Amino acid sequence: MNKDNFVAKATSSQFLQARIKLNQNATNNFEHWSINTMPQIPLNSNILDLGCGTGKQIESFSHLLPKTCLYVGCDISKESIELIKQNYSGLPQLKLINESFDKLESFFEDTMKFDLIYSFYALYYTENLKLLIENIYKKLNDGGVFWVVMPYKNTNIELFSILEKIYPIDKKVTYSINQFSSDIISNASEVKFSDIDVSLFENKIKFESSADLLTYLKNTTFYKKEFEEKIVQEIENSFTHEFLLTKEVISIKLTK
Ligand SMILES: C[S@@+](CC[C@H](N)C(=O)[O-])C[C@H]1O[C@@H](n2cnc3c(N)ncnc32)[C@H](O)[C@@H]1O
Repeated sequence: MNKDNFVAKATSSQFLQARIKLNQNATNNFEHWSINTMPQIPLNSNILDLGCGTGKQIESFSHLLPKTCLYVGCDISKESIELIKQNYSGLPQLKLINESFDKLESFFEDTMKFDLIYSFYALYYTENLKLLIENIYKKLNDGGVFWVVMPYKNTNIELFSILEKIYPIDKKVTYSINQFSSDIISNASEVKFSDIDVSLFENKIKFESSADLLTYLKNTTFYKKEFEEKIVQEIENSFTHEFLLTKEVISIKLTK
């Protein structure tokens, strides 16, 4: 795989696993916040996770749901889907789809509808947001919820301040943090979702060494290897005994 390619980096299971590992040392508990923020749903729900990755949310939520639920996970990375297959231990029946969520329309029979369709940190990789939101709306039962969790303003600000001295951050990355949530809301309003419920969460990830911070950076879409020497130098200059990286998170729940 060509790691200089944005899409290859965004869909790399190895990159995702490395980031999850390095994000574990945090001031607040993101998993607990996710569970506390999860929408109210029927006990016999059909649930769809778009961009499920290695199954972080499937793992958290499926243990709190009965076997009367059906869980479907979708991710474009075969390696991530395989990992979920190997590790799944929840009660709901699990179906996994190794495809792009941009083909959502073709996954299910017309009669198949969901009570909850959610996505954590993935929807900004869509090639057509308007069409994706239209398709999500069609696949929801009346009263069903579309739930998006993603980064928000100030996320990674400490690291971006360092990198911006060396090269401009990819516009796709800054868009996903500064503008994407507002585009989700505008598109959802156009397809006539009825209600919105928004909340924010702030976290700080702690890196104990400059080497860990660099490893984290190397596993992101915004690392540029050609500037390695300068990056190492700037990180060393900014690093004291630990490095705190801000993560702002936004949750948007839209009801059909
Ligand atoms: C940052 S990860 C988030 C994974 C998981 N939701 C989590 O929070 O741990 C983004 C995921 O979106 C997936 N992805 C990117 N583009 C996709 C697409 N067009 N269709 C389906 N999955 C996609 C990637 O493969 C990756 O697993």
